[in-house]
Amino acid sequence: MERLKNKIALITGAAQGIGLATAKLFAQEGAKVLLTDINIDKANSESKSLNKIYPDQTSALEHDVTNKQDWKHVIEFIENKFGGINILVNNAGIGSIGNVENESFEQWKKVHSVDLDSVFLGCKYAIPTIKKSKSGSIINVSSISGIIASHNMAAYNSAKAGVRHLSKSIALHCARDRNNIRCNSIHPAFIDTPILDELCKKIGHEAAIKKLSRQIPMGQIGEPNDVAYGILYLASDESKFMTGAEIIIDGGISAA
Ligand code: NAI
Repeated sequence: MERLKNKIALITGAAQGIGLATAKLFAQEGAKVLLTDINIDKANSESKSLNKIYPDQTSALEHDVTNKQDWKHVIEFIENKFGGINILVNNAGIGSIGNVENESFEQWKKVHSVDLDSVFLGCKYAIPTIKKSKSGSIINVSSISGIIASHNMAAYNSAKAGVRHLSKSIALHCARDRNNIRCNSIHPAFIDTPILDELCKKIGHEAAIKKLSRQIPMGQIGEPNDVAYGILYLASDESKFMTGAEIIIDGGISAA
């Protein structure tokens, strides 16, 4: 139960969904965890609940991942609070439905800012601190949409494909620098989290889950922990020879 003993982790978008499931798993495996999110009330209350089970192991901080100053503040905070960073999980993200004709340019830019620019900023500002900690693992949460495209997710497909390739560039940079920092991406298909709310609003939760499940060879959508366990593997030393690669967690959707 101590796969992340002595490690310090920063997880963005950790107030709910995949980020929160990852924070819980990391704390259970012995890591100190900073949960960041724009939804600070929820991040704070989740951190407080976790500290009741794992005393003093977690903290929460308000953080807009598109904001350069916020990143600087978050890195400073985690260094002062926990003494460094070993694991960065760039998880915060938003979905977007729209094809190349009906997607507005404003929405295109917003999706790229939250889903892709955030990963650049996070790595840019965290790597110097991770270097001081002597070893590290960066996990960028992309999507199956970063590997296979659909007609009505133009901005999301583009941003998530960018995350995949950016991760490889960062991995090669770190390998060349011999700084003992690895970087990989993870690619989930539909996971039952609030990000699916937009779709659920239109046809109801149960009908939406059934509709999405029909697209998956295994016949059902995933749970946040299905992804969190993949992130845990990439974060731990068990994956020490893995960098610039991806883990696909999609119930078989990309095998067809
Ligand atoms: P979610 O909507 O449950 O959680 C996302 C979190 O990110 C929220 O707590 C939200 O407040 C936070 N967030 C949004 N914008 C932010 C910003 N500018 N700064 C800081 N935090 C911000 O979504 P979920 O499903 O947990 O998604 C996590 C990641 O997984 C995202 O990158 C998403 O694209 C990816 N993903 C999710 C899939 C799914 O079906 N749930 C499938 C494939 C990828």
